[in-house]
Amino acid sequence: MKAVYIKEFGAAENLEIREIENPPAPQNSQVVVRVKASGLNRADILQRRGFYPAPKGYPERILGLEFAGEIAETGESVSNFKIGDRVFGITAGGAQAEFLLTDESLLAKIPESLSFTEAAAVPEAFITAHDAVFSQGNLRENETLLIHAVGSGVGLAALQLAKARDIYTIGTSRTLDKLEKCREFGLDFSVLSDSDALQKSPQQFGELIRFKTAGKGADVILDLVGASYFAASLESLALKGRLMLVGLTSGRSAEFNLGLALAKRAKITGTVLRSRPTAEKAEANAAFIREVLPLFENNKLKPNVDRVFNIEEVRTAHDYMESNESFGKVVLKF
Ligand SMILES: NC(=O)c1ccc[n+]([C@@H]2O[C@H](COP(=O)([O-])OP(=O)(O)OC[C@H]3O[C@@H](n4cnc5c(N)ncnc54)[C@H](OP(=O)(O)O)[C@@H]3O)[C@@H](O)[C@H]2O)c1
Repeated sequence: MKAVYIKEFGAAENLEIREIENPPAPQNSQVVVRVKASGLNRADILQRRGFYPAPKGYPERILGLEFAGEIAETGESVSNFKIGDRVFGITAGGAQAEFLLTDESLLAKIPESLSFTEAAAVPEAFITAHDAVFSQGNLRENETLLIHAVGSGVGLAALQLAKARDIYTIGTSRTLDKLEKCREFGLDFSVLSDSDALQKSPQQFGELIRFKTAGKGADVILDLVGASYFAASLESLALKGRLMLVGLTSGRSAEFNLGLALAKRAKITGTVLRSRPTAEKAEANAAFIREVLPLFENNKLKPNVDRVFNIEEVRTAHDYMESNESFGKVVLKF
């Protein structure tokens, strides 16, 4: 089968499409999925560069954390799916290959209205956003959600999920055009952010967010940026606010006022999907099936596909994601 393969860790030009062995026959609750499309993620870029090794048991050099496709084979105890079913889901690696061995507990049925390329833009962004903001962050209807990098794949998913519950949303981006597009998704207040300014004067950002929230601050912050926004996030957090640290695109080290965390009785939670054991990932997937999938089925949510590339164009797709121009998801199709 064909797969996206890392010849050498480094630049996108080190990727190639390589013929590799098909996965083994599925056992017990495993299935083999014939992958039709796979969303690209920042983790793929880090893995390609050699900075984010695949968890044990997943391929070191075959990328891909999410997929949409058809069930090709089933293990003997698979009970929820049959051959030919259209499915999508997350995995810890190897999804950018024609066939993927995975467990049925990590799959969901694709709503009829979605194509494979649309479906491939959903699992990682929506499961991450739903799990961080609602399952762990416990965002409630009368509260405020602040999303850093709101025009990203995960950011737009969080925005849609919050607006589906009519929650007040504030979003940051360094790109004006993305903020304007986010208003069409219902973003209530947007902040054109500048990493240097936020680091120099986090208090000013805090004042702005309090001004927009009747003095309260943001109840939940979905931070997809990390280091350079961290001090500003703490400043803008409400009393008993929940700061959900999900992405570190701006770096890993930050200087901030720990006193604020105490005074605000803040909860600061770091979270990651990829390295969770299958049973824990299955819980996040079950919450997605219960609370998010019905919103796709009745068209309250839509996939955020920015661009689709053929699998042979994977190098261009990586360069495009790294340019920070994408608004929503970049998808590869077989
Ligand atoms: N913890 C988890 O389980 C998990 C799961 C999925 C994703 N993630 C992480 O969440 C983050 C977002 O993922 P995604 O797929 O949604 O990303 P994405 O669609 O590629 O968007 C990322 C956006 O972040 C902004 N950005 C990039 N570098 C920045 C910097 N130095 N300072 C400020 N903003 C910067 C850019 O928007 P602007 O330039 O327009 O602001 C960029 O478009 C990534 O860090 C990813 O690794 C974590």
